[in-house]
Amino acid sequence: MSIKISILGLGLILISTCSMAQTSAQGKSKQMLNGKKVYDIYCQACHQADGNGVPRLNPPLAGTVYVTGSKTRMIDIVLKGLSDPLEINGEEYNNPMAAHDFLTDQQIADVLTYIRNSFGNKAGVVTVAEVKKQRAKK
Ligand code: HEC
Repeated sequence: MSIKISILGLGLILISTCSMAQTSAQGKSKQMLNGKKVYDIYCQACHQADGNGVPRLNPPLAGTVYVTGSKTRMIDIVLKGLSDPLEINGEEYNNPMAAHDFLTDQQIADVLTYIRNSFGNKAGVVTVAEVKKQRAKK
């Protein structure tokens, strides 16, 4: 009897752990899907479909520390734009990028999750809460 109960308990733990993992995986793939839509509309024209940008005009998003590094810096780039000269892969970029603060927190979380996990990048997801917090600091 007690063995049965503990087997039942173990089963329940397993089921709940699996469904938790599934929910976060589903959350991420939904963010990836919606993030691509945002990217195609608002970012692709400059940074290109393959994330490689246009040399000396628009920097690549593939393999840059701005994309795979600090989330707060990257959220700020989208919210406030960027006008610092950058050097990426030996090329200099001097064109400014406009602020995209008209996007919702959800759209920004999705598009940043998308670019952090596309073009060969592998980095963590960006949540709506993280974007909200950063926007409040403005
Ligand atoms: C009109 C062209 C344009 C659009 C649209 C645009 N960017 Fe940019 N982006 C730039 C330029 C130019 C820079 C470099 C700015 C600088 O040198 O200060 C840049 C820099 C960046 C950087 C930091 C450098 C790097 O390459 O890692 C990130 C991250 C970024 N953009 C993400 C985005 C995202 C996400 C979107 C869509 C929401 C977007 N950009 C839309 C032109 C654009």
